[in-house]
Amino acid sequence: MPGKRRRVVLEDVSLRVERGELVYLVGPTGSGKSSLLKLLYMEMQPDSGVVRVADYRSDRIKPSETPFLRRSLGIVFQDFQLLPDRSVFDNVAFAQYVTGHRGKAVKSKVMHVLSRVGLSHKLRQYPHQLSGGEQQRVVIARAIINDPWIILADEPTGNLDPTVAEEIQRLLIGLHRSGMTVVMATHDYRLVRSFPARTLAVMNRRIVEVDPSSLSG
Ligand SMILES: Nc1ncnc2c1ncn2[C@@H]1O[C@H](COP(=O)(O)OP(=O)(O)O)[C@@H](O)[C@H]1O
Ligand SMILES: [Mg+2]
Repeated sequence: MPGKRRRVVLEDVSLRVERGELVYLVGPTGSGKSSLLKLLYMEMQPDSGVVRVADYRSDRIKPSETPFLRRSLGIVFQDFQLLPDRSVFDNVAFAQYVTGHRGKAVKSKVMHVLSRVGLSHKLRQYPHQLSGGEQQRVVIARAIINDPWIILADEPTGNLDPTVAEEIQRLLIGLHRSGMTVVMATHDYRLVRSFPARTLAVMNRRIVEVDPSSLSG
């Protein structure tokens, strides 16, 4: 935009996440955690260099291919982004409908992921009838229903009380232990220390590996 100064958020980032890894992304507000996740789901493009996720490269992906990339990712945001006028079942099933699945197979898949997140008994409820923690469980169910390669979570416990946040963290850790790759931006150093894993800190536009037990606050 003319007259608008561009600010560099991330610079010289080189990083590789292996299949099955759990990686935390920490750093103060505005440091670029969400931007890094946006690079991974290719909502943003790097000014230079290349981002490779699953079978896609940021410099070669066509706009028509972005939905396919997104379907191989499970994305969990801090604000739940559920469809308010649909039941729990339909919110989760929706992710299957958009990939062209129909019928009994969808039903059994939805029931399976809802039981995985501990919400089988709430399938007919609507989002406003659920607590924040329950809503986040629905989001996680929706994120995993298409068997994603990677879960990208942007401060998934950011809006939750500490006890509920820990339950959601346990759920995500459980998914990681069952084999999923999880990249999680988080502010909650207490939870990082409780469930230590590879931790990357965004600092002064760069990404550095840090010892999770050294995080304070
Ligand atoms: N769409 C955007 N356009 C311009 N600047 C943005 C946009 N999104 C984020 N930013 C800026 O980029 C910087 C990094 O933001 P973000 O990646 O959201 O950090 P974090 O998630 O660590 O809080 C901030 O200064 C923010 O204001
Ligand atoms: Mg953010």
